Amino acid sequence: MSDLKRALGEAVQAAFAALGAPPELGRVTPSDRPDLADFQSNGALAAAKRLGKNPREIAAAVAETLAGDPRLASVEIAGPGFINLKVADATLSDRANAIAADPRAGADPVVSPRRVIVDYGGPNVAKPMHVGHLRASIIGESIKRIYRFRGDEVVGDAHFGDWGYQMGLLIGAVMDEHPDIAALVESLDDEAAAIPEAFHRVALADLDRLYPQAAARGKQDPAYRDRARKLTADLQNHRPGCYVLWRHFRDVTQVALARDFHALGVDFDWWKGESDADALIAPMVAELEAKGLLVDDQGARIIRVDRNGETRPKKLADGTVIAAPYPDPLLVVSSEGSAMYGTTDLATILDRKRVFDPHHVIYCVDQRQADHFEIVFRAACLAGYATEGQLEHIGFGTMNGADGKPFKTREGGVLKLNDLIEMARNKARERLHEAGLGENLPADAFEDIAGKVAVAALKFADLQNFRGTSYVFDLDRFTSFEGKTGPYLLYQAVRVKSLLRRAAAEGAEAGLVTVAEPAERDLVLTLDAFDAALTEAYDKKAPNALAEHAYRLSQAFSRFYAACPIMTAAPETRASRLTMAATALRQLETALDLLGIATPERM
Ligand code: ARG
Repeated sequence: MSDLKRALGEAVQAAFAALGAPPELGRVTPSDRPDLADFQSNGALAAAKRLGKNPREIAAAVAETLAGDPRLASVEIAGPGFINLKVADATLSDRANAIAADPRAGADPVVSPRRVIVDYGGPNVAKPMHVGHLRASIIGESIKRIYRFRGDEVVGDAHFGDWGYQMGLLIGAVMDEHPDIAALVESLDDEAAAIPEAFHRVALADLDRLYPQAAARGKQDPAYRDRARKLTADLQNHRPGCYVLWRHFRDVTQVALARDFHALGVDFDWWKGESDADALIAPMVAELEAKGLLVDDQGARIIRVDRNGETRPKKLADGTVIAAPYPDPLLVVSSEGSAMYGTTDLATILDRKRVFDPHHVIYCVDQRQADHFEIVFRAACLAGYATEGQLEHIGFGTMNGADGKPFKTREGGVLKLNDLIEMARNKARERLHEAGLGENLPADAFEDIAGKVAVAALKFADLQNFRGTSYVFDLDRFTSFEGKTGPYLLYQAVRVKSLLRRAAAEGAEAGLVTVAEPAERDLVLTLDAFDAALTEAYDKKAPNALAEHAYRLSQAFSRFYAACPIMTAAPETRASRLTMAATALRQLETALDLLGIATPERM
C-alpha cells in the first residue's frame, strides 16, 4: 500500500518526464499552505532552468497532464510556477478506509528484511549507570522496535559489562570484608559449582556500596590496583573461586537491572555479556597473529588501524596543538596479558556472526565512545570479520542538568535508573492529582497510570529531539499534560479510548469513512504521513521523526474532535467518524509503542 504523497509524486514525476525534464524534479511535498492545497511540487522552476523555458509554462503543461487524474480535485499554479494539488474527498475516503483496514496502520514493511542487532543500554556489573546509559536505553529500545515493526529480524542485546577491571576490584573488596568468602574463593575448585550460601550474603546494595570505595582506592593505591588487576586476570583465566563469586555478582546485578529496565519499558532479547565473548578471544588472537595483524607495542599486542598517515588535531597539556596520528591502534592484549574492552568488542563481533550472522549491527552508545567504535570497526574490517558499513555506531548528546553539565542527582551523584523512575513517578502522581485524573480508580490502577505517565514523560522528552542534540532535564515540563509532552499524548489517546467505549456502550457502530469536513481531510492527510515518518525514523535511526508524527496526529485528532461532533451526528456520519477516531487511535498507539511508550486504558 502506497501513501498518497508517494502515489501523487509518481504521477507528477511522470508528467515531468513527459516534458523531457528530469523526473526527480517532480517531487511532491505536503503543502506549506494547507488552506490552499494538500500537496505541492516546486520542480517547475528547476525544470524551466534546465529546459530553457518559462517556469509557469512548464507548470501549466504538468497541470494539464494531471488535470484528468481522478484522484485530484484541483491542480492550480501559484506564484512563479508552484503546482498546488488538492486531493479529491473520495480519494481521501479511500485512503482512510485502507488505513483503517490495515493491521499496520498505514505503514509499509521493508522490501527485503535483514537481520539486525541493536547493541544498546550497555549496563555494567557494579558500575552505576549514568545518563549515557539512560539515553542509550531509551533510544536503542525505540530503534529496535522500529526496525522490528518494519519487518527486519531484530535482536536487542544489552552487551552487559561484566568482564573488566571493575570485577577484580569488587572481588578483592568482598574478600576483604568477608574472610569466610575469601577462604572459599581460595578453596573452590569447580567454576560451575553451585553458588555457596555464604556468597548470597553479598547483596546488590553491598556491591553498590563497595564499588565506589574500591574504585577510589584503586586510583590512589598502586598495590591495591595491582591486586585488582591480578584478580581480574584470575577471573579471565577462570580461577574457580573468582569465577563462582563473579557469577553471583552477575546474577544479582542482572536481575535487578532487568527489573529496573522493564519499569522503563526497556526489555533486552539478549543479556549477553562481554564475558560471553571470552572463549573466542584466545583463538581470535591466534588468528590475528597468523594474519600478521598484531604488532608489538612495549609488550602489548596492538592492531594499527590508521590509514596512510591520517591525523587529527590534538591539544597537548601545554596548550599546543599537534597533528596526532588518528585513530589510535586497537589494544588487543595488554602488557599484563589481559583482554581489553576493545578485545571483547572484537570477539563479540565474531560471536554474533556465528550465532546470528547479522547484516547490520547498530551500536547505540554515548557519543564519547565514537573513537572506540571507529577503532574496533576498522580492526574488524581488517581482520575480515565485518564489511565496510556493516557495523554502525550511532551516538547521541547528553541529558544535562540546569547547569548545562551531564545530569546528576541533587546529591551530586550519578543517577540510578531506579531513583530516576521513582522521581518521575512521584511527579506523575502529583500531576494526575492536579488535573483531577484517575481519582475514582482503585489504587493499583492509579499506580499503573502514574507509571505509564512517568515513562511517557521521560521517553518522549528524550525522543522528540534528534539524538545528536543535548537537552535539559526538566521533570516539571516533561510531565505536564499540556504542550509537546508524553503525558499530553497519553491523554489524547485515552480521550479517544473513552469515546470509543461510550460509542460501544450506546451500540453505535463504526462504518465506512466518507471524508467531507476540512478537519476530516486534515486528519486523513496526517494519517497518510505515517509511513513517511516511519521510513525517515528507520533510515536515519531517528525516532524523533516518529515522535513528531505522533504529536501532529494528536493535534489533528484534537482539531477533528472539536470540529466534528461524533455521537450526535447522523448514523452514517457517526459511523464514518468513529472509524476515523479508531484509526487515529490505533496509529497513535502504534507510533507510541514504537517509541517504547505504553498507553493506559483510562485516566
Ligand atoms: N558497558 C559499556 C559502558 O558502560 C557500554 C557498552 C556498549 N556496547 C559495546 N558493544 N561496547 O560504557
